[in-house]
Amino acid sequence: MKNGKIATLAIESSCDETAAAVVLEGREVLSNIISSQIEIHKQYGGVVPEIAARHHLENINAVVDRALEQADMSMEQVDMIGVTYGPGLVGALLIGLATAKAYAFASEKPLIGVHHIHGHICANYIEHPQLEPPFMALVVSGGHTNIVEVTDYNECRVLGGTRDDAVGEAYDKVARVLGLGYPGGPLIDRIAKEGNAHAVEFKRVFLEKDSLDFSFSGIKTGVLNYVNSEKQAGRETNTADVAASFQAAVLDVIVAKTVKAAVDMKKDKIVMAGGVAANSRLREMLAEECKKRRMALFCPSPILCTDNAAMIGCAAYYRYMAGDRDDLSLDAIPNLQL
Ligand code: KG4
Ligand code: ZN
Repeated sequence: MKNGKIATLAIESSCDETAAAVVLEGREVLSNIISSQIEIHKQYGGVVPEIAARHHLENINAVVDRALEQADMSMEQVDMIGVTYGPGLVGALLIGLATAKAYAFASEKPLIGVHHIHGHICANYIEHPQLEPPFMALVVSGGHTNIVEVTDYNECRVLGGTRDDAVGEAYDKVARVLGLGYPGGPLIDRIAKEGNAHAVEFKRVFLEKDSLDFSFSGIKTGVLNYVNSEKQAGRETNTADVAASFQAAVLDVIVAKTVKAAVDMKKDKIVMAGGVAANSRLREMLAEECKKRRMALFCPSPILCTDNAAMIGCAAYYRYMAGDRDDLSLDAIPNLQL
């Protein structure tokens, strides 16, 4: 407890960010420490699981110490420990989980396992203190693309997901094809602003009628084929045009399906989450559609969009309030379902 408020120490290590945070009453962030490994993985063009796990192990204790220090808290004041236990890279998850268990055991505090995607959605409760369920959530990240109906703080139902690549993965792969670097999402976001989104008409993949699922694996090949055929014809590709056209093709589908889900399920709020929710064009397009339909749109600030532990602390708090507890047998589940 701090100032009479329930305090959560949260740990997140599902991919390449080692993160710890202290959150009061689920929404008040006292510290949110993120140690990013992007510079390390950049040279490989993507996250190398074994290297990620090793760096988590090296950094995690210092990151937790800093989170407590910045919050001006001792372990005794912590009421529970929240931790991501899936989905994610198994080696990476295990480091955060083992650390959380060790703190829980040593300090005799309850342990609460959090679903990473639930955490991403909860980032919105931190950003928007007035936000309450129900709403429709669009979760778009490097590992996930889901449309989720959120009916209560601890209750959600996945209505659609990707059948192959996640949208962030598609951004990263296309950025590589275009020689832009890693991670590709923010780079494509930036360069697409200078391009013509109608320069190349890449296929919009809607799948079966009424399906809320996605497929993004074809678009990478589409971009690759386009770049190669231009090269063979001796023409220079305009990177900004291709980036803008690729982005338009994936975002047209994402926006249409998210809005359809909200309309069909009679939701008047759409909430964005995950790394790709930081995308400026996606925000713009959804804002336009929401305005037309008098729906409210919520998105977290960029620091709460990408992986962080504050969002995990928020999700853990709502599980704790519902009486949920985990024990030290809690295991990392790389493909945990929501
Ligand atoms: O949520 P996140 O930090 O990690 C996962 O759980 O996957 O998301 C990372 C993903 C990467 O694929 C990155 O390229 C993408 O989010 N991303 C973006 C933007 N910022 C990050 N994609 C598009 N536009 C952005 N501005
Ligand atoms: Zn994530």
